[in-house]
Amino acid sequence: MSKLPKFPDSYIGKAANEYDSAVWMERNQKKTTLKLLNLLRDPHLGPSINVKENFSNIILELGCGTGFSSEIILNHGFRVIGIDILWDMLSLAKEKFRDNKSNHLHFIMADINYLPIRMKKIDHVLSVSAYNFIIHGLKSTQQIKKVLNATTRQINDCLKAHGRVIIEFYPKNEKELTLFVESFLNNGFEGFMIKKKPNQKGGQTFLLLKKKYSE
Ligand SMILES: C[S@@+](CC[C@H](N)C(=O)[O-])C[C@H]1O[C@@H](n2cnc3c(N)ncnc32)[C@H](O)[C@@H]1O
Repeated sequence: MSKLPKFPDSYIGKAANEYDSAVWMERNQKKTTLKLLNLLRDPHLGPSINVKENFSNIILELGCGTGFSSEIILNHGFRVIGIDILWDMLSLAKEKFRDNKSNHLHFIMADINYLPIRMKKIDHVLSVSAYNFIIHGLKSTQQIKKVLNATTRQINDCLKAHGRVIIEFYPKNEKELTLFVESFLNNGFEGFMIKKKPNQKGGQTFLLLKKKYSE
């Protein structure tokens, strides 16, 4: 039996509660988020003077789930807007931070493919173990390309100049990975990827991107 999560079954009803109470899951999500925060300053993306841990940067977190990653991002001095498409997951995140009255954390129920964010509002975008789901249910390459391009353009629109996008995700295979990467490179981003096992076809992949500079 495959151990890979299935969308949406792995994240609704009882499965959402099981996800949230699994110690290993919390540990993995938090560990990966810490890695992404380090990658946000990766020198290969150029000087990171626009990455500031004093609550002046807003990070848009795509697919925030029950808030494991959000907590780490917040604790590192960033404001967070976490979006997730499933209420079963998002409601657990909201509940967890119910007593957090700061203006630094907001959770919104929304689809990554239809971002409810104003133009140039966001400093950087992070996503942990969610971005591969945005093409869920799509069959043809043409459909996948269309959705990926449209979503990447929205991410570009909501980012400020010099905004960075750091994504950890699980493409199914080499072809899918190429489509994801091309959607960024063809829509105003530059950057590169890191694979846990360089020879593997799909599996855990990190995308490190920055918005190409334009006046
Ligand atoms: C592995 S989980 C969440 C991981 C998150 N880093 C955490 O700390 O819990 C992946 C999440 O992606 C969300 N997701 C999948 N497709 C989405 C979409 N199109 N828009 C928004 N969220 C989506 C799922 O609902 C799920 O909560």
